Amino acid sequence: MRIAPATWQDEAAFYDAARPFWYPVARSVDVSTGSTKATTLLGEDLVIWRTADGQAAVADNLCAHRGTMLSGGTVTASGNLQCPYHGWEYDTAGICRRIPQRPEGTPIPTKARVASYPVKEQAGLIWTCLAGEDGAVRDVPECPYFEDEDWYFHVGTPSEWECQASRMVENFLDVSHFGIVHPDTFGNPEVEIVEPYDVSTAADMLSIDAKVPYLAQDPWGEPEPGHTMATVQVDYQYKCELPFTAWIQGLTAGEGYMLYISASPVTANRTTVFWAFGTPSSLAVSDDEIERREQAVFEPDRVIVEGQRPEWLPLDLTAELQMRFDALGVAFRKALEHHGFPRIAFLRKPTN
Ligand code: FES
Ligand code: FE
Repeated sequence: MRIAPATWQDEAAFYDAARPFWYPVARSVDVSTGSTKATTLLGEDLVIWRTADGQAAVADNLCAHRGTMLSGGTVTASGNLQCPYHGWEYDTAGICRRIPQRPEGTPIPTKARVASYPVKEQAGLIWTCLAGEDGAVRDVPECPYFEDEDWYFHVGTPSEWECQASRMVENFLDVSHFGIVHPDTFGNPEVEIVEPYDVSTAADMLSIDAKVPYLAQDPWGEPEPGHTMATVQVDYQYKCELPFTAWIQGLTAGEGYMLYISASPVTANRTTVFWAFGTPSSLAVSDDEIERREQAVFEPDRVIVEGQRPEWLPLDLTAELQMRFDALGVAFRKALEHHGFPRIAFLRKPTN
């Protein structure tokens, strides 16, 4: 089978569709006061820095003078970002405020500026929108319970996936692979049938809801006598916030938990997965334990998704087989297409 690669026009169409949304670009804890960090979002190199008064800023990582990466520079006491080459200083709006080589009082050319982007900090993450605050289709998707005093959240180590963000999120919304891909954690190999579940998509197609009951393995629980693994009945409450944020609340008879993810598209084929895991504070699960558990769940998914072809999630529903139990993924594909994400043409030969 031969799969035609996505073209640069496809890539441009993906970036255009993805641009008017907010994405996380770093964890808040990873950009401390006075520090800088380089990142890439939708193919654009960005610099993040934090001023002495705690404000985070995001701008193009490209000095207007000689194209130097500003992320190699330093943050001044007044909160400007100073280029590491000739020391020009940019404020949080991207405007050059100082050119050290010129005598004091000489006007600074208006072209001496870099594009800057709005910043919000929510769910322990620094978010930005390349289309600007006014160009954003929607606000940063909320993480339920994050501000609730009775809940504790661990904002996990972001992981790099060599895949399109759409593929990553669809995997997060896939409800029929648990027993096969996750038998070492929550997936129950004895549960094969997916019971019918309802999916509802908001009228603006910006959010999708579903509730899926599941008899999960509980590798951390005590097994019943005669069984090797404990099980727990869970209602998985899914919410997808278009395009690439989603969460699952695992509702059990006990306390339940919340797994929130946001797949930030580095390029059309690379993704940084930001995530936060919350439990009621009374459970007192350590950060290390949460990190270990969740990475053990994500890792086999990453291996599967990085191998999927075409690398681009096919939005043409006839391109792959859609089963009843794929309803959540189908709703996601339809919503992406509704919001202008491109279909790609690829060759797929039916086998005899
Ligand atoms: Fe940045 Fe010259 S390249 S100040
Ligand atoms: Fe999975």
